[in-house]
This record gives sequence, C-alpha cells and structure tokens, in this order.
Amino acid sequence: MMNQRDNRPVLITGGCGFIGCNLADRLAERGERVLVLDNLARAGVRENAQWLKSRHGDLITITVADIREPIPVIDAVREARAVLHLAAQVAVTDSVSDPAADFETNARGTLNVLEAVRLHNCTAPVVFASTNKVYGRLVEDSQITLAGRRYSPTSDLLAGGISEHAPLDFYSPYGCSKGTADQYVHDYARVYGLQTVVMRMSCIYGPRQFGTEDQGWIAHFLLSAIRGQPLTIYGDGYQVRDALHVSDAASAWLAVLDGIALARGRVFNLGGGPANAVSLRELIDHITQFTGREVTYRFSDWRPGDQPWYVTDTRALSTALGWAPQVNIAEGLRSLHAWLDSRFGATHGTREALA
Ligand SMILES: NC(=O)c1ccc[n+]([C@@H]2O[C@H](COP(=O)([O-])OP(=O)(O)OC[C@H]3O[C@@H](n4cnc5c(N)ncnc54)[C@H](O)[C@@H]3O)[C@@H](O)[C@H]2O)c1
Repeated sequence: MMNQRDNRPVLITGGCGFIGCNLADRLAERGERVLVLDNLARAGVRENAQWLKSRHGDLITITVADIREPIPVIDAVREARAVLHLAAQVAVTDSVSDPAADFETNARGTLNVLEAVRLHNCTAPVVFASTNKVYGRLVEDSQITLAGRRYSPTSDLLAGGISEHAPLDFYSPYGCSKGTADQYVHDYARVYGLQTVVMRMSCIYGPRQFGTEDQGWIAHFLLSAIRGQPLTIYGDGYQVRDALHVSDAASAWLAVLDGIALARGRVFNLGGGPANAVSLRELIDHITQFTGREVTYRFSDWRPGDQPWYVTDTRALSTALGWAPQVNIAEGLRSLHAWLDSRFGATHGTREALA
C-alpha cells in the first residue's frame, strides 16, 4: 500500500481515456489524489474528464497537455508519487496511415515520460500500458484450427495462453511504436534502476469506452447493435481475443502499484485469460442473445497485424500479486451495454455522435 505520509498525487497520462479514467476513479475512491495529463485527442474523453471531476472534485486535477512536449511532462512528473503511463495513439489503422505521428506520441512521448522520471523523480514507480501487439501474429495457419465458431490452437501447449516468454515480433507501426516504448520502459529498470513495470494488455472493455471501428471493438460492436447499424468484420470473424473488464484491469494496475517492491523490473501479460476468450462471431451471438437485436455484418480484408488467435496467460501476474479476473464476459458485456445504452441509446432520446 502507499506510504501513508506520501500525499503526492499519482500521475496518470492519458487519464481522461477509457482505462485511465477508470484507474483515476479507483484511486480517488480510496482517497488518493490524482493528477491527470491528457491532450484530449480521443473523441469523447472530455466527457470522462467531467465525470471524474463531478465524482471526485479536488482529488482530481486535470492538466491538458501533450506527452510530446517535455516541459509539461516534467512539471507533472515532479509532483507525482507514481506515474501510470497510458497516453497513446491507440489505433493500428491510424498508425498505418501516419506512422510518424504514431511514433512521436507512442515512442518519443514515452521516452519523454521516462526521462522526466529519471532526471526529476527517479524513485517514482512507472507502470506502462503496453499491448499484446508486441508479440506479432504469433501463430501460423498450421497451428490453429476452426472449432465451431472460433479458431483454436492445435497444440495443448497453447491452452494456458500466451506467456511473457513469447518472442517479440512487433507488427504494424503501432506494434513497433508501443514495442519500442515497452522495451525502453523495461530497460530503464535495468540500466537506471527505475521502478518500472510493463503491462502487455489484451482486449480491455467496459464503461466509459468510446469504442470505434479503429479501436475498442467490443464497445463498437455493442454500440452498433444499440444503433441498429451494420458492422464490418475485418478477417473472417473466427479470430479470438481474451476480453478483460476494465474493473479487473484497474485492480491489476493497482496491485502492481501497491506491490511495486515485488513487481519492479517485471513485464506482465494482462487479459481475461482462457476463461474469457471469445471470437468476433461468438461475441455477436452473445450480443444478439441478450439485446434481442439482430446484428448485421459484412466482411472485409484482414487488417495489418491482426492476430487470428490471442489469449493471455495471466499466471505470472496471478502468482506474483494474487490478482485474478472477477468479472466474466457475460456480466461484463451487460455492464458495458448498460453504460452505452444510457449514454447513446434511443431510450434516452439522443443518438449523439462522439464529440
Ligand atoms: N483498450 C485496450 O484494449 C488496450 C489494449 C492494449 C493496450 N492498451 C493501451 O492502454 C492505453 C489506454 O488505452 P485506452 O483504451 O484507454 O485508450 P484511450 O484512447 O481511451 O485513452 C488514451 C488517452 O490518451 C490521450 N492522448 C493521446 N495522445 C496523447 C498525447 N500525445 N498526449 C497526452 N495525451 C494523449 C487521449 O486523449 C486519451 O484520453 C494506451 O496506451 C493503449 O495503447 C489499450
């Protein structure tokens, strides 16, 4: 747990974003001060800022600034007792159309955060939001087979999911920029002795996620069902992801922060694990079942870097810190659906565009 005498805020970069605002909420709920640094680049996240302020008042300070600018990053880092670094360009599609801009935020921006910590607050723990995309495609076609409405690995060796020992194979500009950042964060623990932890996250979903076709696919699928809009499935829809509800993701991040003495220098894969694996087609089936609404979809080509099968092996994190997911996918989908419906649903009179 935090040192009771240390009343400095936890800095969350990207703290107005989906995962960041849920983390800020959890920290403030336990009475901690939170300093959010966010440039509000993501559509919809201004609303998350208002939500945080309305719930927690002065416990939350929001600085609108950009991690590509070293000075505001240094100012924020100087004040903080710990840094949770989530600000990022998050869409693989945008990284393909503008790899330089993606690099500037994800790679250069992360180096700005690390240098600010190294030079101005070197005892502050740093936890970084990395991604399963650093592992690339992972499986060859010969290593998966179609089982019902999903791909399944042919070897039992993969039954427990993908561990941190899987070889790195950055794929897509987003995979490269996040992978670069991931390796810098990890290396700053070795070379400079910083207390850093890398969280390689799979698919996180839940309330306050402004999902679009480019990122946040579960929220995007649910929102399309609510709006009666057709979906495009890139690939064949049998691809598998393990989904983790954001409340479980936040618990994992807090476990790492509170257990930094044990976690420092480590890399953890974070996802829902084999019990929460779902294919795109299966998710659409779930949505149809519990909303009673037919979801229409068409198919398009696979997108660069898309993994046909990715399921997290969560055992390293569980063993180190006693964390385990609590929210199963059926429950989690209901919670996200309830939030999306209250925010965008026809029952509430508006079908607002993300702004
Ligand atoms: N959501 C997932 O399933 C998932 C999976 C793996 C990794 N991640 C990583 O987790 C982090 C958070 O993801 P999210 O889903 O909450 O995304 P999000 O887009 O909701 O949040 C990112 C936040 O960063 C802010 N931001 C973007 N560029 C910035 C910049 N240059 N300076 C300051 N702020 C900036 C955005 O305004 C946004 O509020 C990201 O680093 C992402 O790569 C997310």
